[in-house]
Amino acid sequence: MPNILFAARSEKWDDYERPLRDALAAEGLDHTLGTDLPPETVDYIVYAPNASVQDFTLFTRLKAVLNLWAGVEQVVGNPTLKVPLARMVDDEGLTQGMVEWVTGHVLRHHLGMDAHIVNPDRIWDTTPPPLSKDRPVTILGFGALGQACAAQLAALGFPVTGWSRTPKDLDGVLTSHGEDGLDAALSSAQILVLLLPDTPATTDLLNAERLARLPQGAVILNPGRGPLIDDDALLAALDEGRIAHATLDVFRTEPLPQDHPFWAHPRVTVTPHIASTTRPDSAARVIARNIARSESGAPLLHEVDRSAGY
Ligand SMILES: NC(=O)c1ccc[n+]([C@@H]2O[C@H](COP(=O)([O-])OP(=O)(O)OC[C@H]3O[C@@H](n4cnc5c(N)ncnc54)[C@H](OP(=O)(O)O)[C@@H]3O)[C@@H](O)[C@H]2O)c1
Repeated sequence: MPNILFAARSEKWDDYERPLRDALAAEGLDHTLGTDLPPETVDYIVYAPNASVQDFTLFTRLKAVLNLWAGVEQVVGNPTLKVPLARMVDDEGLTQGMVEWVTGHVLRHHLGMDAHIVNPDRIWDTTPPPLSKDRPVTILGFGALGQACAAQLAALGFPVTGWSRTPKDLDGVLTSHGEDGLDAALSSAQILVLLLPDTPATTDLLNAERLARLPQGAVILNPGRGPLIDDDALLAALDEGRIAHATLDVFRTEPLPQDHPFWAHPRVTVTPHIASTTRPDSAARVIARNIARSESGAPLLHEVDRSAGY
């Protein structure tokens, strides 16, 4: 009978307790679940990196840590963590939310909605937007979230390129990988979506040199992580009009400081890290399934590659 510690912020317990108990029962798992179990009795930790548990050495019989977030940059380098770590991949909740956010913001820029929503001079401009087939979109980071967004955008008719570290294949989408594939992925991107994890290899990936490879007037969406972009280089490209707009959901410092130039920049839209979030009902099912797999000796789903950092 596994003992499962819920180690996220205390206010999350009310949201997660019932879904977790139901999902564990549905997997046929007798269990003990709580927020305050003696560390030496704990088999699994359901974890959020902003929780108080930071020293895993006390958990002497720990089998795995199940992260509630997709991003693991705050836990992956923890030297006290010696057991497998799974990140959150939840098609019904987290992924669906990201697909909706990305599709909505792509369509906003593609259709030029802003010019009609705020039109104080009552300009009657009948120029139609191009069709989606004439608006190439590139997604940097072609994992669980990037591929789901690509599939939706491709279904709407956008020519989509997905870029990743290792080769990938998805029907109806152009793919490229590695440093060699980045040039073409950037140079065709009228809309660029960042869905990479935050690792040493992706820090400042979108620097001045790579921003310069984007077509004139490109739009950037960043629902990935703040450090993917060199903020000063982006501000310079926005000031010069080389980048027409950046819709940013994630930042190096969150909440975004009140005096940060992104807030007031006319070519920047700030959303407060709400592109997607973990939903307790569906996430609980993912966690229960993974604990059941581990208990039956099967490998964890969505295990983090500690050396790659994601
Ligand atoms: N804003 C929000 O609300 C929100 C919500 C959820 C997640 N996120 C962010 O979204 C990120 C992606 O989530 P996910 O579940 O899609 O992760 P994932 O499945 O691990 O996918 C990550 C993708 O990035 C690629 N990648 C990693 N390092 C790379 C490198 N150095 N060069 C090229 N490609 C690289 C991976 O390549 P391979 O396929 O070759 O491994 C993979 O395609 C998370 O890490 C998190 O930071 C944000």
